[in-house]
Amino acid sequence: MDFIEWKPQRNSSIPLHEQISDFIKKKILNGEWTIGTKLPPQRTLAKWFQVNRSTIVTALEELTADGLLESKVGSGTIVVNNTWNLLASTPPDWIRYVHSGIHEPNMKIIQEINKAETDSSLIRLGTGELSPELLPTKQMKKIFQANVEQTFSLSYSEPKGNLYLRKTVAEYLKTKGIQTSPESILIVSGGIQALQLISVGLLKKGSIILHETPSYLNSVHVFQSAGMNLLGVSMDNQGITCDSIEKLKRQHHAALLYTIPTFHNPTGTLMSERRRNQLLRICQKESLPIIEDDVYGDLWFDQLPPKPLKANDQQGNVLYIGSVSKTLSPGLRIGWLVGPEPVIDRLADIKMQTDYGSSSLSQFAVNEWLKSGLYETYIHQTRKELKYRRDLTIHFLKEYFSDIATWNVPQGGFYIWLHLQTAISTRKLFATALQEGILLNPGIVYDKNDLQHLRLSYSYATIEELKKGLIQLSKMIKKGS
Ligand SMILES: Cc1ncc(COP(=O)(O)O)c(C=O)c1O
Repeated sequence: MDFIEWKPQRNSSIPLHEQISDFIKKKILNGEWTIGTKLPPQRTLAKWFQVNRSTIVTALEELTADGLLESKVGSGTIVVNNTWNLLASTPPDWIRYVHSGIHEPNMKIIQEINKAETDSSLIRLGTGELSPELLPTKQMKKIFQANVEQTFSLSYSEPKGNLYLRKTVAEYLKTKGIQTSPESILIVSGGIQALQLISVGLLKKGSIILHETPSYLNSVHVFQSAGMNLLGVSMDNQGITCDSIEKLKRQHHAALLYTIPTFHNPTGTLMSERRRNQLLRICQKESLPIIEDDVYGDLWFDQLPPKPLKANDQQGNVLYIGSVSKTLSPGLRIGWLVGPEPVIDRLADIKMQTDYGSSSLSQFAVNEWLKSGLYETYIHQTRKELKYRRDLTIHFLKEYFSDIATWNVPQGGFYIWLHLQTAISTRKLFATALQEGILLNPGIVYDKNDLQHLRLSYSYATIEELKKGLIQLSKMIKKGS
């Protein structure tokens, strides 16, 4: 259950516990909290409603006496009845429906992170997005204001996305060495949608997906929910290791390989040019398609990264994913998928059945940014800001973590993969840190067996927060959390 904004009124003549029991009763009677809904613990409700725990206890006792709630040791307080249920037929068992849904739920810890991200008082040391202060809000307003007199389309867009944006993306991709045409580009609602479309549009249930370990792919359940299985391949400081790919492909009949060659999530690793060539060669030989996820590709600091795999893909082995979420705005929800035309046609058809196309306004905005050259100026500045933050974070790590951890120095992107010298329960560390106002991304999110890593991000927290948060974190780790 999500955080509840509502609070009882302290200046009301109605006692606090009565206001709370009325609030809960309404939730139950209007069907928002159906039978089987589990209420948050009393402590949490007391915090949300800003009252003493005894006030919550009184309110819940009243509702229990009314027969609406039941409390069992170990399973908490659950809605067991609603008054109209006594008069009318039994309402649907929504909890059973919820549990039977095909899509896998997020990992518990990801659900907790997603919830905690709504709390603006937390220092976010792991968040994979640009800080609001780095996003180009003012410039975005100008883009819309400057164009109010012009006609931008409010209609549905074409199945593959607006042609003008696809043309602009094709031109932009040329700067990365990727030669493609608008027909081979599908505009998607973020990189994640590209993965979703691939999972339901190209693969059989039971297919095996190879990927780097650790990987962003472990933190979402896109492929697993469509009935596929993931198989991790180790990494070194050059990127995914290639020695076992051939064997894994043959042994497991792997259907494709997913990789993040440039500023990998979560390790920040940049795949070397040599490794890229090796990977492409092996996958071509084995007819193993590659999904190249390049959402961090523009965020390099000192040196352009090696060209994407797609730039050297003459056979059409690679499905290439880009997005503006890590650069311009995660909220626009615009990305692109580049691949052979039959694949793009198929996935465009599924996309039409899914959402009738990505937001026309967002597509318009991204086109303006890319076409006008504003994007290039903006990204140049963003690289500088991120590099500055990276340098500061490395400085704080040297000062406060030298005796407890080691780390990489990323050449771009958002992430430092902090390796703790001693394995501790990063789950416990996550909980302790949250209590102290710090939100972390433990390594278990990206590799369930990993107890020795944290994904640190220098992209979101302010400079002051980075310093304060890292000092506090080092103390917690030294105390054994
Ligand atoms: C490697 C990678 N791919 C895709 C995404 C999702 O991107 P989008 O917001 O464009 O859906 C993320 C977000 O964290 C990511 O790290």
